[in-house]
Amino acid sequence: MAFPLVRHRRLRSTAGLRNLVRETNLSVNDFIAPIFVTEGSLIKEEISSMPGVYHWSLDTMEQELEEFAELGIQAVLVFGVPEHKDSTGTSAYDENGIVQKAIRKIKALHPEMVVIADTCLCQFTDHGHCGVVHTTECGAEIGNDDSLELLAKAAVSQAKAGADIIAPSNMMDGFVSAIRHALDEAGFANTPIMSYAVKYSSAYYGPFREAAHSTPQFGDRKTYQMDPANAREALREAQSDVEEGADFLMVKPGLAYLDIVRMLKDRYSLPIVIYNVSAEYSMVKAAALQGWIDERAIVLETLTGMKRAGADLIITYHAKDAARWLRGN
Ligand code: PBG
Ligand code: ZN
Repeated sequence: MAFPLVRHRRLRSTAGLRNLVRETNLSVNDFIAPIFVTEGSLIKEEISSMPGVYHWSLDTMEQELEEFAELGIQAVLVFGVPEHKDSTGTSAYDENGIVQKAIRKIKALHPEMVVIADTCLCQFTDHGHCGVVHTTECGAEIGNDDSLELLAKAAVSQAKAGADIIAPSNMMDGFVSAIRHALDEAGFANTPIMSYAVKYSSAYYGPFREAAHSTPQFGDRKTYQMDPANAREALREAQSDVEEGADFLMVKPGLAYLDIVRMLKDRYSLPIVIYNVSAEYSMVKAAALQGWIDERAIVLETLTGMKRAGADLIITYHAKDAARWLRGN
């Protein structure tokens, strides 16, 4: 009598067999590494809530870029921390803004590197919201259509500086079409848009807001970012961005939203991007520093899970470590 009938363990019995039947493979080609660039000089300052992640000034960031390049990381997502903030986020669309200068410098140092520009206003506005603020009798409101104009200006200035991809993270309605039109008109019809299509209003952005100095000074982002409880609404968000001409669809945050990644993967043929956000990183780092977890195993398992869920690309602060580990050191 043969029992059990099916022996799953046959294909797990050696490393060679496991390699042959592995369904998901993580590669350094999947990674996009964020970089925080700030005004000033000689700055390499660790972000306290994100151990291993730094603020760089234009004259020091070369060190980080070199490391990315050596490790085979070929895409960076640029965040700027400006000196000057005002109510309409002027530094976001200033051709000499910190992001624009950083993009020019990165392209000059590493022309082959894919430079992705985060397009939002929150780091550049004194109120810290992703759009302009209107004060009404019943309080403050984040304007939509007038924010779009500023975001479109920011995107064009980033493209002019040499950005290879525009990644709008603001969650205003119609941002993809507004930015698409503006880019086309300015002669950047070939610059792709990586839309933060499905971005939830999440507590997982906490450490980032400390890093980017972009915490809203009043209220929250719930009138423009999505409610974490909603999945079907994600389909509407994704659908409108596809119709407006997005080239990539992003889901953010990552870990708590893998069901959304799978939904989009099954329905759309655009590349799907997941953002493994700041608090996901910080939680792992904190536990690792305590010696409570095996950081390497945890990170590789998490990133593999994100790919298995359907992500084609992963924006992650673990990019350098993961690239090193994949190499085997
Ligand atoms: C700005 C922006 C945020 C993140 C990326 N772009 C923060 C926010 O919306 O509050 C979060 C990234 C992270 O937490 O790692 N719109
Ligand atoms: Zn924002």
